[in-house]
Amino acid sequence: MIQFTEPRAARQQRPATRALAKAAVAAGRAPSIFNSQPWRWCIADDVAQLRADRDRQLTTVDPDGRLLTVSCGAALHHARTALAGVGFATHVDRLPDPGDPDLFARIRVVDAGEPQRAAVRLQLAMALRHTDRRPFADVEVPPPALRRLREAAEEQGAHLRILRPEDVVTLAAAAVAAAGTELTDPLYRAELSAWTGRPAGARDGIPPETAAHPEPRPVPLRNLDPGGVPDPATHDVVDRYACYAILYTDTDTPVDWLAAGEALSAVLLTATDERLAASPISDVIEVPAARRLLCDLLDGAGYPMVALRIGVPGDGPLAAAARRTGAEVVDVAT
Ligand SMILES: Cc1cc2nc3c(=O)[nH]c(=O)nc-3n(C[C@H](O)[C@H](O)[C@H](O)COP(=O)(O)O)c2cc1C
Repeated sequence: MIQFTEPRAARQQRPATRALAKAAVAAGRAPSIFNSQPWRWCIADDVAQLRADRDRQLTTVDPDGRLLTVSCGAALHHARTALAGVGFATHVDRLPDPGDPDLFARIRVVDAGEPQRAAVRLQLAMALRHTDRRPFADVEVPPPALRRLREAAEEQGAHLRILRPEDVVTLAAAAVAAAGTELTDPLYRAELSAWTGRPAGARDGIPPETAAHPEPRPVPLRNLDPGGVPDPATHDVVDRYACYAILYTDTDTPVDWLAAGEALSAVLLTATDERLAASPISDVIEVPAARRLLCDLLDGAGYPMVALRIGVPGDGPLAAAARRTGAEVVDVAT
């Protein structure tokens, strides 16, 4: 095995191998729970294998590995998008080996041609997208953009339910219940602080400059700094024009979790393409009582995988979370 970054070997590789290696590196930009980036890529000839990195699983927040799998699904969609964006057609087998449940996907390059415009736009969005926890602008989200987000989820085998204004209070209740449960659990607080308190220069975890502002919101965001000094100032309610949505699937198996991640990536990249901002909300999935409230909101239509806050971006700089290098996550066989 060699690392993809070895320049002479990289030159000797076939175009499909090179494209897969580049796509795997580009997939590092995918969103992941606590920016844990819980994936590894192994590439040989015209096939890339996406594997779970269980050493990076959040054992308290995500004991079943559902959010790890959703995160890997997002990386899978990013890689597929990167390949489509340069004109490579692929065939993907998801969870192809029952005896090897950590092998999440095999991507095979089957053809090379001209990139399609839609794929190029989403590929560009990969470089621009960030989780945006800043208050949104007081501007309505255009309904055609929301339609596109719903279609993006459907194309990946999942669904996006945009909540009616009268349903947002139930999502808020779920978020409050989730925070109440998690923040009183010392194991949760330790796991959160391990991933939010990374040393300077770390290439994973959530940096403090990307955290939510203290303003009151219709649905409270995860408190990423529960031990921090409380802000004594009073603030106006922000996010008054935010839309809230639940990404859900028809069944609740690891294949669905992976599809939910692919759909999450597709929705977020489409939102970026529509010049919208978004942030995932998953504490409402992590705590069973909160997740049941989301099931009630869906009224039996399916299984909630993650909630989303969507809006028109606010002002000011948007901080980015760092990523591990390609050499840390991608192996290319010679
Ligand atoms: C499955 C999943 C769950 C997430 N849950 C939350 C969450 O509850 N709250 C939050 O603020 N961000 C959440 N995020 C966003 C991640 O923290 C974010 O993707 C990561 O820090 C990397 O930052 P980026 O999206 O800006 O690249 C979630 C992302 C994923 C994929």
